Amino acid sequence: RAMSILKEFEEKCGTPEGKLKQVADAMTVEMHAGLVSEGGSKLKMLISYVDNLPTGDEDGVFYALDLGGTNFRVLRVQLGGKEGGIVHQEFTEASIPPALMGGTSDALFDYIAEKLAKFVDEEEQMFHQPPGRQRELGFTFSFPVMQTSINSGTLIRWTKGFSINDTVGQDVVAELTNALKRKGVEMRVAALVNDTIGTLAGGRYTNNDVALAVILGTGTNAAYVERAQAIPKWHGPLPKSGEMVINMEWGNFRSSHLPLTEYDHALDVESLNPGEQIFEKLTSGMYLGEILRRVLLKMADEAFFFGGEVPAKLKIPFILRTPEMSAMHHDTSSDLRVVGNKLKDTLDISNTSLKMRRVVVELCNIVATRGARLAAAGILGMLKKMGRDTKSEGGGKTVIAMDGGLYEHYTEYSKCLEYTLNELLGEEAASTISVEHSNDGSGIGAALLAASHSLYLNEKS
Ligand code: BG6
Ligand code: GLC
Repeated sequence: RAMSILKEFEEKCGTPEGKLKQVADAMTVEMHAGLVSEGGSKLKMLISYVDNLPTGDEDGVFYALDLGGTNFRVLRVQLGGKEGGIVHQEFTEASIPPALMGGTSDALFDYIAEKLAKFVDEEEQMFHQPPGRQRELGFTFSFPVMQTSINSGTLIRWTKGFSINDTVGQDVVAELTNALKRKGVEMRVAALVNDTIGTLAGGRYTNNDVALAVILGTGTNAAYVERAQAIPKWHGPLPKSGEMVINMEWGNFRSSHLPLTEYDHALDVESLNPGEQIFEKLTSGMYLGEILRRVLLKMADEAFFFGGEVPAKLKIPFILRTPEMSAMHHDTSSDLRVVGNKLKDTLDISNTSLKMRRVVVELCNIVATRGARLAAAGILGMLKKMGRDTKSEGGGKTVIAMDGGLYEHYTEYSKCLEYTLNELLGEEAASTISVEHSNDGSGIGAALLAASHSLYLNEKS
């Protein structure tokens, strides 16, 4: 019976090439629709107000805040202008206490402001002079925001386990600025960016061929450079560059071609945001371990996979995290020792046989493979929209800047993603496209965008 549950799950999760191409085409179609009008698609295709990516001329000292991944980061980046590069950078990171993820807006922003205040203080007292002018900051806020300018925008909704009602509809820059005032920090928010935009900017700073960015972490999302004229819903002035960076919010993509199972439906219904972020729930780090837990629970419940009783811990949502799943998936020991230990440590399940451990690894593989292949299909959809899915005559290259804990640490996942992307593109087109890890690029990207939107642009820093 356990094996039939596994087989059925495997079949339902199938992602043959033909299906992935349908997913990619659906992504392209939704991208078009989202660019035509607000609400025209599940894909928000948010206008970022970034119409110029870093050039390398950025100069001066800037702070950055990065909120929305596993950790919250504060950075100080010293940019050296033309050919100077990043002269110096320091950062500190902390996790967001879970209680703050579901509390009040003021509590969250006070916490962030306090960390920033402490960091600025330490930096300036111990190592550096204050800048002699107003400090400026790039704010990476990795949630869907309807921007109203480069440094203002209202939160559309929370994703990824955050749920703070009174922030929705508010300008998050105003929320931050008010908290900074309460904490007595003098700071101007010069740029508000999504992590995908930050990663794109950070990636472009070091590599001119970077044209899209993908985050695969707690959540997932992508951004790319669009022709401004191809954005019918943009009624503002045409940017000089003729370009506009778009934050797709592809986590909210959905399509009848997505291979959804009963476990995905149940996960969605019981989540903080039912009906939303369906693509994210299939592909990103917050959810992969939870999908695995749900399948194991069914096996325990209906096929007595772990003996007569259902292990109590297995019933707890989100107890099996993706890093644990990844460790089990990568277990190369002959007796699958790591799998045994993880089941024991995280779920209190002991005395597992080698056969049972093999089933667990097989399940990890099914869940991760489906996620990675769908992410690759999403990228193909973007490349199609950008007209970069075939080899161009000019021989141009396209680099995808990627970041996020899932991409960085779950090797089987990232290997499968890159393999699938090559499979979908075919050898010739694949030779023009590469993936580059943009390590913590989003914080630096935010600092770079703060620099290009500084009030003091024409003054020597
Ligand atoms: C980091 C970026 O490296 O990746 C963040 O700097 C981003 O901005 C994060 O949100 C996503 O990864 P995770 O795994 O922490 O959610
Ligand atoms: C979620 C957020 C999105 C972010 C992504 C990756 O999907 O809605 O804004 O970019 O996670 O962190």
